[in-house]
Amino acid sequence: MPKVTEIMESMEYGPAPEDSAAVRDWLRDRGAFGHFIAGRFTRPGQTFASRDPSTGEELAQVTQGTARDVAKAVRAARRAQRGWGAMPGHDRARFLYAIARTIQKRERFLAVLETLDNGKPIREGRDIDLPLVVRHFYHHAGWAELAESEFPGHRALGVCGQIIPWNFPLLMLAWKVAPALAAGNTVVLKPAEYTPLTALAFADICAHVGLPAGVVNIVTGDGDTGEALVAAPVDKLAFTGSTEVGRQIARACAGSGKALTLELGGKSPFVVMADADLDAAVEGVVDGVWFNQGQVCCAGSRILVAESVAERFETLLRARMARLRVGPPLDKSTDIGALVDPVQKERILSILGAAVSAGAELVGGLPGRGCFIAPGYLRNIAPANPGMIEEIFGPIATLSTFRTPDEAADLANNTRYGLAASVWSENAAVATDLAARIKAGVVWVNCANLFDAAVPFGGMRDSGYGREGGREGMLDYLAAPVAAQRDPLPAEIVPAEASGIDRTVKLYIGGAQKRPDGGASYAAEGELIPLGNRKDIRNAVEAAQGSLAKWQGLGGHGRAQVLYFLAENLAQRRAEFAGFASPAEVDAAIRRCFFYAGFADKYDGATVAAKPGHLCHVQPEPHGVMGLVAPVAAPLAGFLSLVLPAIAMGNSVVAVPSQDLPMAALTLAQVLACSDVPGGVVNIVTGPRDALSAALAGHDGVSAIWHAGQGEGLAATRAAAAATLIPVWVPPPRDWSDPAAQGREFLRAASRIKTIWLPYGA
Ligand code: NAI
Repeated sequence: MPKVTEIMESMEYGPAPEDSAAVRDWLRDRGAFGHFIAGRFTRPGQTFASRDPSTGEELAQVTQGTARDVAKAVRAARRAQRGWGAMPGHDRARFLYAIARTIQKRERFLAVLETLDNGKPIREGRDIDLPLVVRHFYHHAGWAELAESEFPGHRALGVCGQIIPWNFPLLMLAWKVAPALAAGNTVVLKPAEYTPLTALAFADICAHVGLPAGVVNIVTGDGDTGEALVAAPVDKLAFTGSTEVGRQIARACAGSGKALTLELGGKSPFVVMADADLDAAVEGVVDGVWFNQGQVCCAGSRILVAESVAERFETLLRARMARLRVGPPLDKSTDIGALVDPVQKERILSILGAAVSAGAELVGGLPGRGCFIAPGYLRNIAPANPGMIEEIFGPIATLSTFRTPDEAADLANNTRYGLAASVWSENAAVATDLAARIKAGVVWVNCANLFDAAVPFGGMRDSGYGREGGREGMLDYLAAPVAAQRDPLPAEIVPAEASGIDRTVKLYIGGAQKRPDGGASYAAEGELIPLGNRKDIRNAVEAAQGSLAKWQGLGGHGRAQVLYFLAENLAQRRAEFAGFASPAEVDAAIRRCFFYAGFADKYDGATVAAKPGHLCHVQPEPHGVMGLVAPVAAPLAGFLSLVLPAIAMGNSVVAVPSQDLPMAALTLAQVLACSDVPGGVVNIVTGPRDALSAALAGHDGVSAIWHAGQGEGLAATRAAAAATLIPVWVPPPRDWSDPAAQGREFLRAASRIKTIWLPYGA
């Protein structure tokens, strides 16, 4: 035994394992697991092993869910939904409180079970995951209580299929299940094949609190089970996992009308400015990249550091890295535990191999026996190196430098992903400027990887769409009130004979009348209408991109002035427009301009109550370039009902007017031109709606699509958008002249939420 004085000198300490006897007893008693369907466990079917990745030991046999199992679970969820959705919010809240309380009572058990199944250090599971799980159920119990008053007229979507990954098994379950239930939905959840055990323990909790049978169903299995759930008749799918599988799911859902939210991968920048508190920033790397063995979708895995402080930062980083303890996950002093599975270890090592072959230098990052890799980072790494581009999903960051804040912003945005970012600077002006410029759903200023149930989380571009947490998260599980009507399908386009006459009707691109690329036209409303094509869409998107800086630079007040002017000019030409639309529709269109002019500077964000000592700013941002496919009916009010909220929020648009009644929109182009709407903010491309819409959805420069149609055209648009991961919103068809066809629902869809965390205090 070393003496105390010797221990004080060396700071060596022995193992401090958490006791896992209760969990092992539970696993032994349960034997093999079936699914949890309609309030009870089914008999185990064909099973597979769930293992402790730190030792390879088998923990339990779990059932591989079949399509029949999934169908049975969806039927149970459907049966339960009517009662659950109709239940007063207060009663749903009591169940969610009961779940929160029971999890709290079993916190230690669940943390140990999670560590055994996943390999994460017990310290993290116990101190981070579990408290957040509990917080999530309490927070959403609150939303259930307040649902009727806070979301008046909204209703639940119905049955939700939820597919979650293995990096935060119970936390991801909480993120999915709590808002779905609070909103009145029922769920069928599929945990990841590597980590199903805490979901099964959660099923016990549902039974324990007497949750009505079928409200929560859990079907275990691998990707095949996931595919069966995607194909099942559910009303919404919520997925967290790889971008590749996210794309497959978006494609599979394209023609189905299912609501979809995707929380996918990332390669988030971690930006250290020259004036940063370097010690704090190094601690941030520990939380940002090495937390959970780096298996975090929002890991700040691309460290970008100002050249002038790079050497000092790296020295501090190496010293800190050397002190991290890699070891048994159940040991309370372990910092870095086991990766989830040997497959993931191989994946990480193969990316590292490719990165080193391409010239990068690996510091640390040595593989150990079993599922262990020591923390490390890649330096001297070129922007095109695979290690810089691919999501490593392990405890390995990249380290590169920049000279100016502009270069930092450019490098930070040099990725297809857009999930999160961490920015370090002691200067508020510098930090907030970068936070605004970085394209990501969440930005942490002087902190990393902070989460809270009240705070929306989610990304853009290849990181997916939709938000989880807070009011925004609830809205993604609710349907807005609307009395839907049917929009007619457009008539078939018959190209007109080329006449050689100089047509007066043209496309409107970049603020100018433009002939269509193909020079062709079709007949509608007694006119020859330009037949736009893919090239015209490309030109229009380019024009829209070019106008964004100026349009957004005007601010809400400036945009409101333009919309008021547009309203006035439209009113002056009321008689002319009455030739293309009913007088009531023209009046409604004029009113709509005033309405959105009024709203242009009033659709605000909020500072939400998350952790004490943190400003947590939740702010709607314009998407950028939006593609709008207008309804067939209501050629003026329908068209403007989409264009106005989009541009009021600071987007520029490429709009496809009613295919059969395009003249109102084409005439509107003249009014736009004389109303100070900068060229390129509204671009109008007429022609075959379905083909133009699919072209918009396949264009990388478009950030969101609204498609006011149904049928095959919509399915084709969704299919094209599945590849680009552009979110598609379908405004429900309605009477477009009605005042109900405007409002916050449109402004919400015209923006996406950016969350900025800003801890305060010295
Ligand atoms: P994955 O995306 O395959 O697995 C996530 C979940 O989707 C699991 O429940 C899985 O069973 C299910 N799934 C798989 N294929 C499916 C399909 N075709 N249809 C429906 N569900 C399906 O992720 P995987 O293979 O476990 O990890 C590979 C990489 O993905 C990781 O190295 C990491 O880069 C990334 N990833 C990102 C996560 C995130 O939180 N953003 C989480 C997990 C993985």
